[in-house]
Amino acid sequence: MLENLGVPVINSPKAIEIAINKHRTLALLSKNGIKVPYTIVTENVNEAVKRLSFEKGIVVKPLFGSKGLGSFLLKDRDFAWRVLADLRYLRHVLYLQEFLKHGGRDIRAFVVGENVVAAMYRELPGSWKTNIARGAKPKPLKITDEVSEIAVKAAKIVGCDVAGVDIVEVEGEKYVIEVNSQPGWKGIQRVTKIDIAKKIVEYAVREKIKR
Ligand SMILES: Nc1ncnc2c1ncn2[C@@H]1O[C@H](COP(=O)(O)OP(=O)(O)O)[C@@H](O)[C@H]1O
Ligand SMILES: [Mg+2]
Repeated sequence: MLENLGVPVINSPKAIEIAINKHRTLALLSKNGIKVPYTIVTENVNEAVKRLSFEKGIVVKPLFGSKGLGSFLLKDRDFAWRVLADLRYLRHVLYLQEFLKHGGRDIRAFVVGENVVAAMYRELPGSWKTNIARGAKPKPLKITDEVSEIAVKAAKIVGCDVAGVDIVEVEGEKYVIEVNSQPGWKGIQRVTKIDIAKKIVEYAVREKIKR
């Protein structure tokens, strides 16, 4: 409604609509040359079980979700078949992803406009979910050109002015797993002196307010 009234809105409703759907986001990113984990979306359990390799494990995620809630890891094909069949019985769309063995750490890059203003590792040894909400600790991370390039490009593809881009590293390769269009910054603010709120306000005033 505000956007229709001509009020500048960050992020735009369109960007939020894309980012909130994990599959729509990854499909768009992949099409535009960003590395993402092998992911399938299906309503067919046999197809899902046939196409996936259970050696490393399969991540089952809600298409719409946050804070690591509701996702789980499957390692056994028979067990997977049973669980996925039950999810289908409840009419869930199956959103399935190869497990990237990251060792209990991922990267959150906080994008404002054309820049990553802050970045952190999120560490939770012994766990594969490294959300701050699941107890992961923020650790300082120097913003490299590589992280900056990937995160800014990912945010731009989705159409976000402000975004929290989740990046998983495996054997030196970086994969984007999610673009958050409503990222909090309590955790990341603990590991940087940059005033993130100020950066967002400065960006909004500079780029969005017509003079
Ligand atoms: N394919 C994957 N392989 C390994 N770890 C993953 C994978 N997908 C998600 N994770 C872990 O789970 C966390 C939550 O997943 P994410 O897709 O970001 O959803 P959420 O919206 O719940 O944050 C990630 O930060 C990461 O630690
Ligand atoms: Mg996430």
